[in-house]
Order: sequence, then structure tokens, then C-alpha cells
Amino acid sequence: MQTPSHTRILRTPDFAGAALGLILECHDQAIAERGLFRLGLAGGSTPRKVYEQLADLNDRIRWEKTQITFGDERCVPPDHADSNFRMANESLLSKVPIPQGNVFRIQGELPAPEAAALCERQLQAVATRFAEERYRHDLLLLGIGEDGHTASLFPGSAALLEATKNVIPATGPKPPPQRVTFTFPLINASRTVAFLVNDPAKDAIVAEARSGQHPSGKVSPVDGEVVWILGERK
Ligand code: 6PG
Repeated sequence: MQTPSHTRILRTPDFAGAALGLILECHDQAIAERGLFRLGLAGGSTPRKVYEQLADLNDRIRWEKTQITFGDERCVPPDHADSNFRMANESLLSKVPIPQGNVFRIQGELPAPEAAALCERQLQAVATRFAEERYRHDLLLLGIGEDGHTASLFPGSAALLEATKNVIPATGPKPPPQRVTFTFPLINASRTVAFLVNDPAKDAIVAEARSGQHPSGKVSPVDGEVVWILGERK
């Protein structure tokens, strides 16, 4: 797998600022071209500061024209400490005037197959509206784990082989093990995918991923770009 032809590397001490700049760039273009900004949020801990600063941009974002999805979710209730939705809700969604119907929460409190199927239907309804084969994110934010996983696509997992569905159950070594994840077909339908990495301990795994290794290295938008936003120490 070749690394995507369109790849940008933003190595910066202003990690959150660079991420916000990309979010605004994609937001403005999407709303100008399609009247809707489809933003996928990454889970884990890295994005929290970005989401907190995004919330402070409140009136700069057309929240009524923004759709929020989640690259993966842990199979826990939305108020659980491990919930990716809870992190995004605390840092961003509870602070901005986004209509509830614009937030496509993966319902981690349900059995994973049911939660995945519900999300799949939500995405497909929008894709149909836009005459797309599958839902196209304008910007999908992702993290990378120290084993090279992204979303909940872990090395050696059967989920890596999914070639049709957009959202599926998955398991992984990073607790909690039961999850729901976006698949490569959905990820690679994005216009822009941005990896948010703000930990120098991940430099080696990032370099390997950029050479096509690991699940993260298989992110290669069919008609889009990959942006690596790499925080560096001041
Ligand atoms: C998850 C995330 C996962 C995360 C990476 C990085 O649900 O765990 O989706 O893919 O982005 O593991 O996590 P950190 O940002 O906490 O290092």
C-alpha cells in the first residue's frame, strides 16, 4: 500500500491551532460547496484540547450546518468515563448550539452489532441524499495508537478486512475491548483525513504509518488527502 499521494505534514508547537486551522479550512469549503460540513471526531485523549478550543470559536462555525460523527466508540454508556462521546460532549458538544439531530452518536450502551447497524443507517441516509455510494466526511479526525491502530482498527483484527460496511463491531487490546468502529471503506471515502498526534513517543510509529505500515498506514483516501498534525515541543 503506497502512502497517499496527497499528504500534508504539519509539524508545529501550536498543535491545537493547526488542528483548528484545518477544521476551519474544511468547514468553509464544505459549506460553500455543499451547504453542509461533515466532521468526524477522534476518540482517545489527544483531541480534548482541540475540541475545547473549537468550542471557543462558537460563532465562527455554522453548527446548524455541521454534522458530527465518531470514528469509533467504546461499548459503554454515553456518560461512562471511557466513552468517546462523553469526552467530545464535555469538551465541545455541550457548549455549542449544534442541533441534537446533527450528532450521530454511536450508541455504546447497545449491543455492538445493533449500535453499528443504527449508525450505518444514519450515514447511508445522508449518502443517499448526496447521491454518494457511501457517506463522505469533509474532515475525519483520527488518532494513532502506539501499536499503529487508528479508530478501533487494531493490528491483526478481522475488522481490517471489512470491504463493504461502513461501521462494524470490533475488539482490541486497548481497554475497553468491545468497540464499534468506522471501516477503511468509510475512512477512505473522506475528502480529508487528519491524524492528530501530540506525543513525541509516537514519532516512530507515525514514521512507520506514513510508510504504509500498520492499520494507520492503510488510511488512503480514494479522492482526498491525509494531513498529519504533529505537535512538537516548544
Ligand atoms: C479510541 C480512539 C483511538 C485513539 C488512539 C490514540 O477510542 O481509543 O479512537 O484510536 O485515537 O488510541 O489515543 P490517545 O489520543 O489517547 O493517545
